[in-house]
Amino acid sequence: MRVSTSMLLEDAHNGGYAVPMYNTVNLEITRGLVAAAEKLNIPILLGIAYDAIEHMGMEALYRGADVIARAASVPVAIHLDHGRTYEEVAAAVKLGFDSVMIDFSFMEFGENVARTAEAVKMSHAMNVPIEAEIGHVPGGENTPTIEDASHMVYTDPKDAAEFALRTGVDFLAVSVGTVHGVYKAEPKLNIALVKEINAEVGRPLVLHGGSGTPADQVRAAVAAGISKVNIGTNVMRAFINGLRSVPESVMDVRTVLRAGRDEIYNVVAETADMFGTQKATY
Ligand code: 13P
Repeated sequence: MRVSTSMLLEDAHNGGYAVPMYNTVNLEITRGLVAAAEKLNIPILLGIAYDAIEHMGMEALYRGADVIARAASVPVAIHLDHGRTYEEVAAAVKLGFDSVMIDFSFMEFGENVARTAEAVKMSHAMNVPIEAEIGHVPGGENTPTIEDASHMVYTDPKDAAEFALRTGVDFLAVSVGTVHGVYKAEPKLNIALVKEINAEVGRPLVLHGGSGTPADQVRAAVAAGISKVNIGTNVMRAFINGLRSVPESVMDVRTVLRAGRDEIYNVVAETADMFGTQKATY
């Protein structure tokens, strides 16, 4: 069933667990993610980011996700991940996305506040909750590039509180030690910082760059106040591995795609276990 992102994240925020957002770039991945969530009986968010939009088009991806989500036996919400412009976010809101993200985290504080606040005003006018980022998680979202931490900007708790207050964002993405993509060196999340931001901000916090982050650190981050974790790279990798596992002699494209789709289950099972998503009451 299609559900509200706010309901999912409020339940996670109150229940001390996190809801996973998995990136999708096509119908097969969407189907694989939802089938996995059904098998595990957990809620999930489907994340559509700019690379997916460039690949397939926002409306085609959204409509496919909508049909699959509506038919699902578990709660599913559709989220615009890393909206790049006001216009892109407005288009997603108009289409019916359950939530959107606007990402001006690469800009200086005042500019990030001003541009985010403008997008918040628009999305709230349409009753769509919105996420933005303060501090900066580096790397190409859900594209398996190798990333190091040199462009990381850790979130300052006081800035986070001011940002949340001045913009009115519903969910706040924070930078506490993760990067998007494949890690060059093992990350070291700053769990004390998550706790501090959580105490200052008091609304659901989002961790980007979930793929490849050691399980014990993810569990600690969730316990410290993360309510949504984004996973992109691991989903894409699993799909590709599945496709490549099919013998070259196979000529039925559905067999190849199904092999990719079926590989996704393990990613969802492993991450949902780390995030405690089985605790969901929504
Ligand atoms: P990963 O690709 O590192 O999992 O990050 C995904 C993400 O944060 C999308 O917003």
